[in-house]
Amino acid sequence: MPSDLPIGILDSGFGGLSVARAVRARLPAERIVFAADCAYAPYGDRDEAYILERLGRIISFLVAQRVKALVFACNTATAVGVRRFRALLPMPIIGIEPAVFPAVRHTRSGTIGVLATSRTIASEKYARVKERALDWAQVSRPMPIHVIDQPCPGLMECVERGDFGSPEVERLLALYVDPMVRAGADEIVLGCTHYPFLAPAIARRAPGAHLIDPAPAVAEQLERRLAFLDLLSREAPAAADPTVFYATGANPAREAVLRSLWPGRPELLELA
Ligand code: DGL
Repeated sequence: MPSDLPIGILDSGFGGLSVARAVRARLPAERIVFAADCAYAPYGDRDEAYILERLGRIISFLVAQRVKALVFACNTATAVGVRRFRALLPMPIIGIEPAVFPAVRHTRSGTIGVLATSRTIASEKYARVKERALDWAQVSRPMPIHVIDQPCPGLMECVERGDFGSPEVERLLALYVDPMVRAGADEIVLGCTHYPFLAPAIARRAPGAHLIDPAPAVAEQLERRLAFLDLLSREAPAAADPTVFYATGANPAREAVLRSLWPGRPELLELA
C-alpha cells in the first residue's frame, strides 16, 4: 500500500475533530480525510445494528477514497464495531476507548468519573477496559478505587450545534459532572470525542479535577502502527492544511460549526 495515501478519520459528528487535531499536530506530513455522520448522529443512544449499518456506509466511503488506515475517532463506534471491521478490512484500524487506566493510575482521591455515551458505558468492551484497569489497581495502588460511570445524553448534540457553554450545556453538566465532583472525583475521563470541546465548561464545574482526553495517545498509537507497517508519509508537510472534511447532511450551519472547531476556514463537503 503506498505511504502517500490519506488517513481516514471517522465519527458520528464533529467530536472526532478532537482526535483529528491531535493527528494533525503529531503527523503534519499526513493527508487526512475526515468523515462525520452528522445527519445520522448521535450514535450513543442507538442500538448496535443501527451503528454497524452507519459505520458500514461511512467506511465504504472512506475506503473508496483509498485511505491507508482508519481511525475510529468515536468511543461508541469503537466499542460496537472495531473488532468486526478489523476482521473485514486489510488496513490498520485504530480505535479509541475511555482512558480509565491513566485515571486509575493517577487518582489521589480514589474516585474517578467517566463521561461517555450510554452505548459506550453499556458495552462489553468498556466493561473489559474497566476491569483491566481495576485489576491492575488492585495490585499496584494501595487504596480502594471507585469508578463513577456517567452516560451523558444530550451533550454531544450541544457540540454539534456549536454550543460550548449555553445555559443548556450548564444544565446538562450540572446533572452529569456535579455529582461526581461531590463524590470526590479528582480524575475525569472524557470518554466521548465530543467532550474535549466542552473541557473549559467541564473544568469550571470541576476545578480540582484533572480531565483526561485520550486523543494524543490515539495519535501516538496511529504513528506507531504506520511506522511498523512502513506506511508513514514520506512527503514534506504541506504549506496549507491538507485535511479534507466530509459530512452527511453538509450545510452552511454545519460548516460554520466546523469552522469554529478547526482553523483556516475549512470547507465541508457532502458525504453522499
Ligand atoms: N463522539 C462519539 C464518541 O466518542 C459519540 C457521540 C454520539 O454519536 O453519541 O462516543
